[in-house]
Amino acid sequence: MTGELRGLTAREFGRPFFPLPEADSTNRWLKERGGGLPHGAVCYTGRQTAGRGRMGRDWVAPDGKALALSLLVKPAAHSALLAPVCGLAAARALSGLAGEGFAVKWPNDIVCSGRKVCGILCETCWPDARGFSVAGIGVNLRQTEEELRRAGIPQAASVEMLTGRRLTLEETAAALLNELEPLWLRLEREGFAALREEYEARCATVGREVRVLDPGGALRLEGRAVGVAEDGSLLVETPDGMVPVRAGEVSVRGMAGHLY
Ligand code: BTN
Repeated sequence: MTGELRGLTAREFGRPFFPLPEADSTNRWLKERGGGLPHGAVCYTGRQTAGRGRMGRDWVAPDGKALALSLLVKPAAHSALLAPVCGLAAARALSGLAGEGFAVKWPNDIVCSGRKVCGILCETCWPDARGFSVAGIGVNLRQTEEELRRAGIPQAASVEMLTGRRLTLEETAAALLNELEPLWLRLEREGFAALREEYEARCATVGREVRVLDPGGALRLEGRAVGVAEDGSLLVETPDGMVPVRAGEVSVRGMAGHLY
């Protein structure tokens, strides 16, 4: 079943739009159907039973209190920059809906008051030479502190917990897509260089002492994050000089083990 998303002003993103009563993973749902759907197709649900996170982790959102949304982007060009652009769009959208204070933790988590409220997982498929990307965005909207603790993610938070704003799935989805479409079009025309300054301004990681860990948790390097390069890499000043850190299979932590 397809529908019309209220509040959607984007011309291509969100058309068509599939509101799902439940899905194991919206990314999986869209990857399975992506070959036969147009660029811009979106599905979302408030009940995602087997959500996928970065680095093989789970993403828990079973109870209708979190938005799980996936967007189809064709072709699969610029796929490495889709996630940071989604991060920028989510920081803008949540700040617009619930008040400033939502920032990007490099490369593409969204944090507020030092806690993660939104995660992004972009995946690329190559059923043909053009390929396609699926951008998955998960936003904690209304969970309580206790619910997140019971789900085993006490470091996470919801928009309502932090701001008192009770956002609906629909208004959040529309705001995300309305912000994302013009950013994506600009990236396609001008490259990430055109978005770099705003990304850096909204990036809570820049200016902090950080540790860069590999997927096994081993320390790769530590230093001060001083900026973001035109290819989206985090620039870390270390005793041995400036090191560009590429997104992917690394995680960045603050020095006290704190989130960013
Ligand atoms: C992370 O921070 O680890 C990324 C989490 C991404 C979760 C979203 S929810 C919508 C989409 N569907 C999925 O299965 N995962 C992404």
